[in-house]
Amino acid sequence: MRIPMVDLHAQYLEIKEEIDNAIGEVIQKSAFVQGPFVEKFEASFADFVGTKHCIGVGNGTDALFIALKALGVGPGDEVITAVNTFVATPEAISLAGARPVFCDVDPETMTIDPDLIEERMTERTRAIVPVHLFGRVAAMDRILAEARNRGLKVVEDAAQAHGARLGDRAAGAFGDASTHSFYPGKNLGAYGDAGAILTSDDDVAVWARKFANHGRSTKFGHEFSGLNSRLDGIQAAVLSVKLVYLERWCDLRREHARSYSRLLQGIEGVVCPELPEDGEHVFHLYVIRAQRRDALRDHLASSGIATGIHYPKTMADLTAYRDQWDADRDFPVATRLRREILSLPLYPEMTAEQIERVVAEIREFYF
Ligand SMILES: Cc1ncc(COP(=O)(O)O)c(C=O)c1O
Repeated sequence: MRIPMVDLHAQYLEIKEEIDNAIGEVIQKSAFVQGPFVEKFEASFADFVGTKHCIGVGNGTDALFIALKALGVGPGDEVITAVNTFVATPEAISLAGARPVFCDVDPETMTIDPDLIEERMTERTRAIVPVHLFGRVAAMDRILAEARNRGLKVVEDAAQAHGARLGDRAAGAFGDASTHSFYPGKNLGAYGDAGAILTSDDDVAVWARKFANHGRSTKFGHEFSGLNSRLDGIQAAVLSVKLVYLERWCDLRREHARSYSRLLQGIEGVVCPELPEDGEHVFHLYVIRAQRRDALRDHLASSGIATGIHYPKTMADLTAYRDQWDADRDFPVATRLRREILSLPLYPEMTAEQIERVVAEIREFYF
């Protein structure tokens, strides 16, 4: 029995009829780019997260780039973000013309350490981009307080946290804007690239929508130069079907995470992720810290169990950014974590037997 990291085919089979009908309808109506299916999804996703506006765009990287620009971030500005993220986060900051300034993370939550944000601030700091990494909401109360003190904008990178909550608010409803990726493997995934910007600020929403559509508000009324980054009808229709299941899928992810943590108890050499009580984690990834991580990974691979490392390098280790930082010195926590972390298979359709099998193999490796 091989166990993959995610099984999108199993998910498709569960909702096949609805998906096939939804895609068929878009084709019947030739509503390929923007149009009623996009409008419907935008309205329901804004409602789900609790913001006034949702602007569907081509992918999560564009979403972040456009949101930053819409909030006035540009050349000469600095934007503080977590050093352990997918490269798209600093890439979008650079694309907007600003400089990404990395910050180390909390060892437990693995999200940006709010105690360290202030020392990264300069007179050029314009915004903070917390990343809700692995599906866990960053320490938003503290981050918003830091931002308010300095008049900074906050854009949540919520690419990995669809459905997560902190108190009574959803991931994506805290900042001046939030950005979402619907890459197929995400908790809410399309059948291709797709993304969205959420905001309750009318001006940000209007500007972002125009910018993502060639800077226009009418067919040939191009007010400024923008780009082409629009959500397409087929992706929107798929997302509308899946949004109805998102809460249930998040519950299953949490249930599987609890099973892993219970079964892994007592294995010396493995540290499990925290299991926050209040729904603040939706386990896009279940990430353990493991002694002899690479050997464990090889052992699991030889037993047919896929694993991942998210991410093998911090942003400060990448060729694109490393000349500005010394990762060991500047980011000791993220540097330690990147050598220990291992993402285990986790997706809603996983069975109890599959989880037991993964844990049995881990146990065998350490005993
Ligand atoms: C944290 C984070 N930010 C941004 C992105 C970029 O999203 P996309 O791949 O849709 O451009 C991703 C997803 O890949 C991500 O995981």
